[in-house]
Amino acid sequence: MTRVDAARLQRDLETLGAIGRHPGGGITRTAFSAEDAEARQWYQRECEKAGLDLELDGLGNMFVSIPGASGEVAGVWSGSHLDTVPNGGAYDGALGAVAALECLRRIRELGISTERPVRAVVFSDEEGNYGSLLGSLGLRAGYTAQQLGQLTGRDGDRLVDALAAWPWASGSPAETRLGESALAAFVELHIEQGPKLEASATDIGVVSSIVCLGGARLSFVGQADHAGTTPMLSRSDALVAASDFIARIPELAMAVSPNCVATCGFTHVHPGAANVVPGEVECSLDFRDPDLAVIEKLGRDLEAMARMTAERHGVTLLWAPSVTVPPVPMHGLVQRAVADAADELGLSRTSIASGAGHDSQNMAHLAPTGMIFVPSVGGRSHSPAEFTAWSDVTNGANVLLATVLRLAGRQPVSGRER
Ligand code: GLV
Ligand code: MN
Ligand code: MN
Repeated sequence: MTRVDAARLQRDLETLGAIGRHPGGGITRTAFSAEDAEARQWYQRECEKAGLDLELDGLGNMFVSIPGASGEVAGVWSGSHLDTVPNGGAYDGALGAVAALECLRRIRELGISTERPVRAVVFSDEEGNYGSLLGSLGLRAGYTAQQLGQLTGRDGDRLVDALAAWPWASGSPAETRLGESALAAFVELHIEQGPKLEASATDIGVVSSIVCLGGARLSFVGQADHAGTTPMLSRSDALVAASDFIARIPELAMAVSPNCVATCGFTHVHPGAANVVPGEVECSLDFRDPDLAVIEKLGRDLEAMARMTAERHGVTLLWAPSVTVPPVPMHGLVQRAVADAADELGLSRTSIASGAGHDSQNMAHLAPTGMIFVPSVGGRSHSPAEFTAWSDVTNGANVLLATVLRLAGRQPVSGRER
């Protein structure tokens, strides 16, 4: 069976893993940062070395293609993301992005011919600094100029400003929407980011579905005052209100559904000085469940609780919901192809649902889509502790290559092929 170059893949992941790495061990390569640019530069150099041309769209999604024997028909795509969360790990996104490129390199260097074009893709801002699954949502649904104008990052900067200064984008950000006819199938390799595969000593997860994502940005607006002279009963302390709300989130979430999770991952306190009563606190909210109806209820209940809490503390609440990303089942055709590839490689496999969000969630609206998971040691992710064994990296990439070749219609072995 055709296999990836495991040593090259490991080298690539190690090189990429050094970009944005802090002395403390974590990696910060958030979307549209200098580190993201460096990672993209590295990716482009690798494409050039392999004789592959890089294309860009208006949101900075990047594409590399190999034509198929049947000409301009819909292609089989694979990819993931190069951005990370702040202080994240070396495998989330990077594995799937580099493994997809490795598939194209192998197809090229072994002279393999496929009926359909094969395309590797790097999606912009998967980690949702500016918008949940930003780049793939642009491909799925497009954004209006007005929607783009409203998106801001965790530091309060505007997406449109970040994109205007970004060399890794080309064309209008509002015109990235993909015609359905461009895509025949999509498959993404990713680390599991949870403990199940490791606990059951299983090599490969054949993903059955991806969780529904809800979110909001909210602000508690009180009044900034002198911390030394303002009596306790005369304050409108936005941080006290926000803390009260945040402390109640776990109980509310568990009451809505045993499966759901809800997180306030950042707060910004303004003006943020030890001797000033906090005048405003911005908070993020991220909540997830397999069921869209649960997400809708969670959104309503969280907003109601935030409003009640604000009222109790005499502050004002501003609530801005994020786009809800619906749950999606993975397509049977791609699940079958992944399962068959794992079987052919002699790897154990199991069906598994994803609790993390992925770009596949958007691509699934455009064409049959599936995902391949490999074990995460200790189930750790979105943390410097994220780790996947090289043998599992290789297994996953081999399954990806075999799946892509199946879906793209590998043609009978040619003379050049080894
Ligand atoms: C992506 O990593 C997500 O699940 O937030
Ligand atoms: Mn990811
Ligand atoms: Mn992630």
